[in-house]
Amino acid sequence: MKSIRLQLRFLVPLCVLLLGAAYITVPLVDNLTQRWFVRDLDIRAKLVAEAMATAIDGVADIQQTDAVVAALEKIIADERLMALAICSPAGDMQVRTHAFPLQLGCLQAQVIANEKAPLSTLPQGEVHVAVRPLNIASFSGSQVVILHDASYMQRRSDATRQYLVILFMALGAAIALSTILAAHLSLRGWVEGTRALLRGENLLSPFQAPPELQGVATDLRLMLRELEDEHRSRLHAEAWTPERLRQVVATDMRGEQVIVVSNREPYIHLQSGDSVRVQRPASGLVTAIEPVMRACSGTWIAHGGGDADRATVDGQDHVSVPPDNPCYTLRRVWMSKEEEQGYYYGFANEGMWPLCHLAHVRPVFRLTDWEHYKTINQRFADAVVQEALTDDPIVLIQDYHFALLPALLRERLPNATIITFWHIPWPNPESFGVCPWHEEILRGLLGSSILGFHTRLHCRNFMESTDRFLEARIRLEESMITFDGDHTQVNSYPISIHWPAPEEVGLWPSVTECRSKLRAQLGVKEDHLIALGVDRFDYTKGIVERFNAVDRMLEKHRELRHRFSFVQFAAPTRSALDEYQLFAEQVTRLAERINARHGDANWQPVRLIAEHQDSDAVTSHYRAADCCVVTSLHDGMNLVAKEFVAARDDLAGTLVLSEFTGAARELHTALIVNPYDVESTADALYQGLTMSRDEQADRMRSLRAVVMEDNVYRWAANMLLDAARLRRSERISARIVSRQGGR
Ligand code: G6P
Repeated sequence: MKSIRLQLRFLVPLCVLLLGAAYITVPLVDNLTQRWFVRDLDIRAKLVAEAMATAIDGVADIQQTDAVVAALEKIIADERLMALAICSPAGDMQVRTHAFPLQLGCLQAQVIANEKAPLSTLPQGEVHVAVRPLNIASFSGSQVVILHDASYMQRRSDATRQYLVILFMALGAAIALSTILAAHLSLRGWVEGTRALLRGENLLSPFQAPPELQGVATDLRLMLRELEDEHRSRLHAEAWTPERLRQVVATDMRGEQVIVVSNREPYIHLQSGDSVRVQRPASGLVTAIEPVMRACSGTWIAHGGGDADRATVDGQDHVSVPPDNPCYTLRRVWMSKEEEQGYYYGFANEGMWPLCHLAHVRPVFRLTDWEHYKTINQRFADAVVQEALTDDPIVLIQDYHFALLPALLRERLPNATIITFWHIPWPNPESFGVCPWHEEILRGLLGSSILGFHTRLHCRNFMESTDRFLEARIRLEESMITFDGDHTQVNSYPISIHWPAPEEVGLWPSVTECRSKLRAQLGVKEDHLIALGVDRFDYTKGIVERFNAVDRMLEKHRELRHRFSFVQFAAPTRSALDEYQLFAEQVTRLAERINARHGDANWQPVRLIAEHQDSDAVTSHYRAADCCVVTSLHDGMNLVAKEFVAARDDLAGTLVLSEFTGAARELHTALIVNPYDVESTADALYQGLTMSRDEQADRMRSLRAVVMEDNVYRWAANMLLDAARLRRSERISARIVSRQGGR
């Protein structure tokens, strides 16, 4: 509609201009052609007069009328010549052809012939009147009146006028069309250029932008610099707390709706005899997102997997959580056992999980699992659309369970800001390509506005996979992928944990109490050395390698017998899968072997506790341990490492950390190991257990500074502020486009 108005604004003046031009030009041309015709007829009249002189030269005098008339009649056989007459020197008509009009006398003919346009309208029609001397001796002094039929002049003049009008109309149409086309193309170019600028393309140098956009580029650059300065100073000014994150949501996002989607729910309701108990799952993802949700008071959509989950929701499948202090809504999505088997156990955990983790477990891809995966992604898309209060909510999609969800949502909520965070590693293109549906997965993820990974390496792997398998435009420097007209910003956001406030730390039992309690539980002395592992019972966590290192250390340092224990918490996970059952059995057998090899009736070096632990118990163990061991074979981040650091406000304790975790990129002062290298891992464990208190404090201080600053609120704020920036630039772009459309 706007573009029609825009075109009318141009077309109406163009029509007026052309009409004006036609109004002036047509009479001019008419006049000119008439003058040419008259001149033409004058010349013809002269020729006719000469022809007449020749024709009647032999006739002796005017009295031989018949002969003269006959000669004249012969001459007027010419189709335009209408009539001839001869006038005496006194002005009397002496001879005339039969068609000569009676009402036209010699004198009158003379008067007309002397006019500028010697035309006369007679009953016979328009005639041209010419009077020429008859240069023959016998007719001395006589004049010949020559009448030409001039009606053809009118006909030709009408036709010329008609052609001219048509010409002007055609010219107008051609000008209008080509101008509209040119305007349309340049408008499109301008809009595209402006949009590209808003996406940050060609913004680095003013000379990279097209000349007509250089002014806009300069303004945008200034605006962005100001925004970035503000953003940076805000990020670094003070520590990130839930309160600051809440402020970001309230100011930068103007309290817009935040919807989180994850497979695992933050609170699981379980039937326990006659009552219902609430369980918190062992999931780093849940640990990280929960504080964000508390800060945003949004809606969290997740699979209702607990056996009392249905009994605890309302009519909209909502339940307010946390149970003790409700501040956000949990929306549960249901699935049948068969669907859960295919989507969760099958495609997500037997396919995607081993595909993305280099832990030497083959991924399994079944068509039926894939079909369930697609169905469940669609069901979550329906749930998001139902929960959305506006057409542009901020949707935070979590992890490999929902690779297809971003594109499904993009279709139904095109204005939503979709942030997808992939909590696990992304493999290189060769590894990723073994998935039969690799293209669909990439297409699905590219529905995201922002796609986040823990590390730059995973971002690069993703961009290389896209480059390998899709026809997409990839700008590595800007970390931007354009596919099917949509843009996806690929960024790294290293996830973290809630940094405990002093009041919370004040509620913890002291380190001394924790140490004594654990040692009493194990039945060992106060100075007994304890190393701790806290993991889900998952083959990616390197528990076998860790135990082998314990075994090797005890071989190398026999003095540690009866003086050292390794406590391993292994929370049961995905136990319905063979791979996990086999792994649990393998680890259990290995622990038994090591205990049999080094231990005795009074001392068991490895304590494997394959049970779910609550967070208080885990914190208490972190505080009681001398060393925390994280030996994942491949891990997106690993939050255990960060939780351990946060728990050690006494600056004691050491961290042995696998180089194959995302955390190793930040926690440089940990004892970094390659878990496949048993020898050096054993040495690092020994080093950790025997390190001086001063060195422990130095290392721990620096680890704590990193985790405190880069806590989970900063992680969330970084993503949300990027989303806010994106929304701002999209709104500016929409405004520019609508303004241009309105012009
Ligand atoms: C990892 C994944 C999470 C998952 C968690 C627990 O941290 O990234 O998405 O929730 O493991 O696994 P589970 O299968 O029990 O949810």
